[in-house]
Amino acid sequence: GKSGYEHFMLKEIHEQPTALRQCLSGRLDRLSGDVTVEDIGDLETPVRVQLVACGTSYHAALYGAQRFREVGIPAQAFLASEYATAPPPVDESLVIGVTQSGETADTLSALRAAKGRGAETLAVTNVVGSTAARECDHVMYIRSGPEIGVAATKTFSSQLVSLSLLIESVAPGVDSERTRALVESLWRLAGNVQSVLDNSLDDIEELVDELSGSDAYFFIGRGYNAPVALEGALKFKEITYEHAEGFPAGELKHGPLALVTENTPVFALVTGDDAAARKTLGNIKEVQARGAPVVVVTDGVLEVERFADVVLRVPETDGLVGPLLVNVQLQLIAYEMAAHLNREIDKPRNLAKSVTVE
Ligand code: M6R
Repeated sequence: GKSGYEHFMLKEIHEQPTALRQCLSGRLDRLSGDVTVEDIGDLETPVRVQLVACGTSYHAALYGAQRFREVGIPAQAFLASEYATAPPPVDESLVIGVTQSGETADTLSALRAAKGRGAETLAVTNVVGSTAARECDHVMYIRSGPEIGVAATKTFSSQLVSLSLLIESVAPGVDSERTRALVESLWRLAGNVQSVLDNSLDDIEELVDELSGSDAYFFIGRGYNAPVALEGALKFKEITYEHAEGFPAGELKHGPLALVTENTPVFALVTGDDAAARKTLGNIKEVQARGAPVVVVTDGVLEVERFADVVLRVPETDGLVGPLLVNVQLQLIAYEMAAHLNREIDKPRNLAKSVTVE
């Protein structure tokens, strides 16, 4: 059942601290900073990585590809449905299918194509014994527990963490300080997600009330917040049926800015104080100049008050993990807006939990 929650989606959003603890359990050694993923025991450090996925899982794949590149492993994410046009995997490539259900037709067919071309394959999935788990050479379970709502929530968080663990375990010791910071922040992650869940509902209800009826909703972020901007918009459109788009913030000026008016709220995602975060502030100024209401979701490391009509704060944490907290905030916003509009949240029109045709 829904354990007292009005929808499975809200229940699953609130299950995230537990799901993340399960995902990390036995895989993280806080003292030594070691990460071990037993599922993939014999997997060697890949020379090159391709990730294939659809929808929300594709956004996780974009995050994963960025993380692999950061540790020096060339990696690229592909929409599974477009994998036919991807460069063929070279020797010692690892092709990772990121799929919650393990049954998505496009992802299965991309994985089969990769295997046919001689690549080693790995399924990162939630469902034990799923087709992807059975057909791939290796499997890593994200351990979210069952997800009933069509909108993927806790599984996205667990995918980001699983990919992070995977990278630390196949490419250890690249930058030990970085690893230590990551391990520490993963250790604190469940508690930090809990505090996002505990703090925000009243603020969000008020915000949703104010913003509903807008022409469209935009989500912008850079670096690790770019896939989260895409995901924020996907979740929003999927359950509210309102027009929402996510952009890497730098792309605004290359087209989408033409759509920005006083009637298109912009959610800007800013964590840490690196170049990506600072440049995002520049992009916020551009939308402010067009009169758009700006909601900044931030860990507060940079001073954003003068850039924002509304600031939503998440706990300050490591740069790799901050975007995950931002995403939880965006899940709540999408949920509250859909509830406000009386949408069918757990089974949005036209959509299915697992898409088994190409
Ligand atoms: O089971 P999968 O992770 O392969 O599913 C992929 C997409 O169909 C899925 O993530 C979809 O985009 C979600 N409903 C979005 O909330």
